[in-house]
Amino acid sequence: MFAAMHYENSCLHLIDQRLLPSQEIWLKCTTLETVAKAIEDMVVRGAPAIGCAAAWGIALDAQRNQAKGSWAAFKSTFAAGIERMARTRPTAVNLFYALDAMKLHAATFDDSMTMQEVSQALTARAQLLTDDDIRTCKAIGHHGASLTSTAVNVLTHCNTGSLATAGYGTALGIIRAMQSQGHIKNVWVDETRPYLQGARLTAFELGQDKIPYTLITDSMAGYLMQLGKVDFVFVGADRIAANGDTANKIGTYGLAVLCKHHNIPFVVAAPKATIDFKIKSGAQIPVEERPAAELKEIQGLSIAPANARVWNPSFDVTPASLIHAIVTEDGVFNGPNFTLS
Ligand code: MRU
Repeated sequence: MFAAMHYENSCLHLIDQRLLPSQEIWLKCTTLETVAKAIEDMVVRGAPAIGCAAAWGIALDAQRNQAKGSWAAFKSTFAAGIERMARTRPTAVNLFYALDAMKLHAATFDDSMTMQEVSQALTARAQLLTDDDIRTCKAIGHHGASLTSTAVNVLTHCNTGSLATAGYGTALGIIRAMQSQGHIKNVWVDETRPYLQGARLTAFELGQDKIPYTLITDSMAGYLMQLGKVDFVFVGADRIAANGDTANKIGTYGLAVLCKHHNIPFVVAAPKATIDFKIKSGAQIPVEERPAAELKEIQGLSIAPANARVWNPSFDVTPASLIHAIVTEDGVFNGPNFTLS
């Protein structure tokens, strides 16, 4: 399995997901700022992976500031570091979950600790978040695979695999678990305009794991369903409101509507860390808008008039009423009236 990141000797190594699958270039991050920029610029993306990378950024900052040695210095740089990370991307709540976990851990430190102990403790917390995410994804895969006992055709959107998490994946984790049980006939992979996470990353991961897949453009999904060639749709999530409304990659809502029309189960897979219990409904989810160049160019090649006006929301919100089930590490929660806990 291809991983998005690994940490070694005060360095977070991130595979540059903007260049995959044509180039495998690893970025070496030794500062909080390089990690923050990597999140903003989509070197690392996918809700759980963003959360883990942010935690590593905070740990790296503590390591670098060890030399300064005072509690006052630690407290102010720690708070500034959390604030910088929180400004990277607004939608995936996993980012804020990871930052809160680091803050809560820091709140248990007492003044008798040396700065070396502080930085070791924050590094250990980042490692725990990373390890937990892999365990969580495997549990999601296990529960989600129970939705079928026969081989099926599934469709997925965006990239929710090893590259979008600390490893294994959420919706793609379910697909991996189904494949290991012989229950995948074919995975229809939406290319996922405009950033092409499906074409570039999901197709790459499925190919690496020898899981049969067929690439389609996003606009082909409806016809495919009309032809009876889709049994399930599995997607991930960036933020799930307490009522089950789900923000995920732009195009997800359209798929959910199509599933309703064609009576196909539309399944969301995500760790509990993606559920934002503080918000009642999807109307409160902040939806990131990304630069116009993502629509007007493909890998630097212009595909639209330079002066074309562009609207580029990175996510959309699918109402709970269209969601057949939400799969977390705790099991399968059936919709549409979710009682998430
Ligand atoms: O903009 P991205 O690539 O970070 O968006 C990713 C998605 O929308 C994923 O579906 C979501 O984060 C779940 S990843 C397990």
